[in-house]
Amino acid sequence: MGDALLRDLTDDEARRALVCKWGSVDPDVLPAWVAEMDYALAPPVVAAVTAAVAAGMTGYPRFERGGALGEAYAAFARRHYGHQVDPGQVLPVVDVTSGVRLLLDVLSDPGPMVMPLPAYHPQLDIAQVTGRRRVDLVVDPDAARAELDLDRLDALLAAGARTLLLTQPHNPWGRAFSRAELEGVRDVVVRHGARVISDEIHAPLVLPGAEHVPYLSLDGTAEHAVAVVAASKAFNTAGLRCAQIVTADPATLERLLRAPMARNDSWSPLGVVAAVAAYTDGDPWLAALVDRLAAQRELLTALLAEHLPEARMRPLEATYLAWLDLRAYGYADPAARVLERGRVKTAPGHHYHPGLTGHLRLNIATSPQRLTEIVRRMADALVTEPEPAPR
Ligand SMILES: Cc1ncc(COP(=O)(O)O)c(C=O)c1O
Repeated sequence: MGDALLRDLTDDEARRALVCKWGSVDPDVLPAWVAEMDYALAPPVVAAVTAAVAAGMTGYPRFERGGALGEAYAAFARRHYGHQVDPGQVLPVVDVTSGVRLLLDVLSDPGPMVMPLPAYHPQLDIAQVTGRRRVDLVVDPDAARAELDLDRLDALLAAGARTLLLTQPHNPWGRAFSRAELEGVRDVVVRHGARVISDEIHAPLVLPGAEHVPYLSLDGTAEHAVAVVAASKAFNTAGLRCAQIVTADPATLERLLRAPMARNDSWSPLGVVAAVAAYTDGDPWLAALVDRLAAQRELLTALLAEHLPEARMRPLEATYLAWLDLRAYGYADPAARVLERGRVKTAPGHHYHPGLTGHLRLNIATSPQRLTEIVRRMADALVTEPEPAPR
């Protein structure tokens, strides 16, 4: 396998390619914030999208379920997770967040939505925009392992919440939940007749030592759960605009197909092409990526031990987003300090968990050289001039 398939972008290339991550920071800032990777695209994706643009495929997409996209995702799910998906139950949607919103809107009862916190922050308001209330299932920042508190989930559902937004693997917890944990979730949800929306965008990014168990692969989930998946996070193609909703129950599918078109922002045909290429021909590149991310995880552990020994990092089982507890260094907002003094842009912890101090999320999907420089600069900012007391 090895790394040969994976090519690091140079700084100039990254600035041109990643207009959000690199293009919106000052030239002296190393960006390690938004979830994009500093690697050249997978060659099969480039070839397929280039050919589609050359052929003029820039009109509306085909409005169909299943099709080549459904077949490609079903084959990927079978190979990677041993999960049998009916290709006809795969529906395109513009992105994962819109998919979650659509599912809440169309399928969920009006009651509150349970949101495990910390959470992917653009989804913090998703319950409200569908006219629902968000109720939080908070992970104790002192817990050695981030786990879903099933007793609390039980209490929230008993108090009237109707939907759980499950993110798995979890950003920013870095967790890939085990089958037993997910079965525990299922049992609580079924007891209350509630629904699950399972955001599985990070599923291809499970690192060695963990596995991804699709929620819909568990017995007894088809009638209450829908997954939203995408190739876009693992293959850096978010700008091509295509995610997929996966259902496992004909009645649920029917309700989604009857939803008015105005409810769904339509996806791009180029996103469909990219997803089909990634799912069908992307395995070797994905394997090289996962190898690299596993090596970056190891490197980060070593760098933290050397430069920021008081940092606490929960085990990173999946994703390339490390959740760092830096409370020991005394800054309420370490991301602000690291940006100002270290010229490294990370993601502030309080964006993911309003009110939480002392945490940040670090994106490690870059070169080993950049990661080394990032941690060195973070340490310079946090360690050399400590302020006397936490704010
Ligand atoms: C858990 C999770 N869901 C959704 C998204 C965003 O996906 P999309 O751009 O397809 O809405 C991200 C982005 O990092 C994420 O971490």
